[in-house]
Amino acid sequence: MFHEKTSVLVLISLVGYCLGVKVCPTESDYNNLFSTKCSENPDAGASPKEIVDRWNISTQTEHYLVTSDGYVFLVVQCVPYIEDLSAAAVVLGHGIALNSRGYLNMKNNTLVYNLLIHKHQVYLINFRGTIFSTNTTNGISIDQFEYWTFTYEHLGLEEVAITISLAKNITNRKVVYVGFSLGTTAAFALCSLKPIFCKEALVGIVALAPVAYLDILIPSALGLLAPIWPVNEHFVKEKYNGRIMPRNENELKLYTSNSISMKIFYNERILFFGNNPGSIPWQYYPVCIINNPDAIGHNVVEHFDQNILAAQFRRFDYKDKNKNTAVYGTPDPPNYAVPDISVKVSLMTGKNDLLATEKNALKLWNNLSLSARCTFHSIDEPNFTHENFMQHEYLFEKLVNPALTIIKNMEGGICS
Ligand SMILES: *[C@@H]1O[C@H](CO)[C@@H](O)[C@H](O)[C@H]1NC(C)=O
Ligand SMILES: *[C@@H]1O[C@H](CO)[C@@H](O)[C@H](O)[C@H]1NC(C)=O
Ligand SMILES: *[C@@H]1O[C@H](CO)[C@@H](O)[C@H](O)[C@H]1NC(C)=O
Ligand SMILES: *[C@@H]1O[C@H](CO)[C@@H](O)[C@H](O)[C@H]1NC(C)=O
Ligand SMILES: *[C@@H]1O[C@H](CO)[C@@H](O)[C@H](O)[C@H]1NC(C)=O
Ligand SMILES: *[C@@H]1O[C@H](CO)[C@@H](O)[C@H](O)[C@H]1NC(C)=O
Repeated sequence: MFHEKTSVLVLISLVGYCLGVKVCPTESDYNNLFSTKCSENPDAGASPKEIVDRWNISTQTEHYLVTSDGYVFLVVQCVPYIEDLSAAAVVLGHGIALNSRGYLNMKNNTLVYNLLIHKHQVYLINFRGTIFSTNTTNGISIDQFEYWTFTYEHLGLEEVAITISLAKNITNRKVVYVGFSLGTTAAFALCSLKPIFCKEALVGIVALAPVAYLDILIPSALGLLAPIWPVNEHFVKEKYNGRIMPRNENELKLYTSNSISMKIFYNERILFFGNNPGSIPWQYYPVCIINNPDAIGHNVVEHFDQNILAAQFRRFDYKDKNKNTAVYGTPDPPNYAVPDISVKVSLMTGKNDLLATEKNALKLWNNLSLSARCTFHSIDEPNFTHENFMQHEYLFEKLVNPALTIIKNMEGGICS
């Protein structure tokens, strides 16, 4: 009986996969087979280019770029039909366990859509190891453990730097970098290690849910789990071979089959990211469930774990004094020189973000040089969580509109 049910569900999910996913405006519509308010959303399972193409406001080009360590990654360049050559291009780096679709699921509510409407070019990075960036030129396959030995520092020095450079070359002017979560960490690593590159290439950084300083006191379950990670690392290595939480399309699809399973999906994440009941619109949630989850590299987790335990924003510890000395010139890894960051930085924080807490954002802010501090914007809602940066019923009002103002001001040299 159980197997029959499972097979039927899997069959439905496979058929559904080809059609997009059913979306409805309210919870009860999902559970009413006869609701006339539901429709298929073809964004589910579509590529970033396909999603943005459908908006019909810009022309998309896929660039497969190669890092110096031989990873191929996808950048989607979006050029608005009506372009303002005096508006800076905006490069976006996505969060952990995500790909660039996290920025696209809510159509005209998203930052990307509104940047294009405001005539900015947009460049969407998909970090190595996500489903759109799986090839290499170094002979190492994504199925090998060696593929996953990079840390967030590599994502900054390679993917972020290369994409910024590409956008700057194409538009022939400085660009704005917007990161979310991991996407901010990578940029802070880059700009503290290569301040001159950033100064020459960037108008500034807008950091959504900034992650630099961490500690075990963060209210996220990740704080509690951090001391256990070193003990379990071996097991995780065995289980995943470096590719932590690989996407399972059928499982994700099953989660979208009714409102109860969607709530289960939501509830599983509360302890890590925060709870904001009713904030994620039913209309978009199935697409988010299908499109967002993506693999995390083993050493990205390891690096964050080291930072949590040390309560420092610090370079990767190879746990081998000779290796550390070879890479850093010191037996222990140095801290990132946050005060060396020499571009304008604006932070946007959520009051109920358990992971990128406002307390740690303030620590980052205080460690930035005075000239780098642009704006510190706490989003105007007491329950705004980490995930709300990607999905919120009022994403436009709460996040996107303020971010557009910050970007516009930053371009004009205004920090207020
Ligand atoms: C795209 O928008 C233009 C108007 O701006 C319209 O003429 C055209 O039919 C649209 N194309 C599609 C495929 O919807
Ligand atoms: C998005 O489009 C819908 C439907 O066309 C419209 O009602 C809504 O106001 C738009 N939202 C934004 C933020 O542009
Ligand atoms: C990745 O590499 C394979 C094999 O060389 C090739 O067939 C495929 O087109 C490549 N994909 C991308 C996205 O470059
Ligand atoms: C941008 O141009 C510079 C200078 O010509 C070049 O060194 C760099 O490789 C280019 N970047 C990309 C991503 O093409
Ligand atoms: C960062 O700032 C905090 C307080 O604002 C300070 O205690 C700490 O020493 C600073 N860390 C670094 C690495 O500068
Ligand atoms: C915030 O969440 C709590 C439950 O966690 C709820 O009682 C409260 O009404 C929410 N506040 C707002 C402003 O949404």
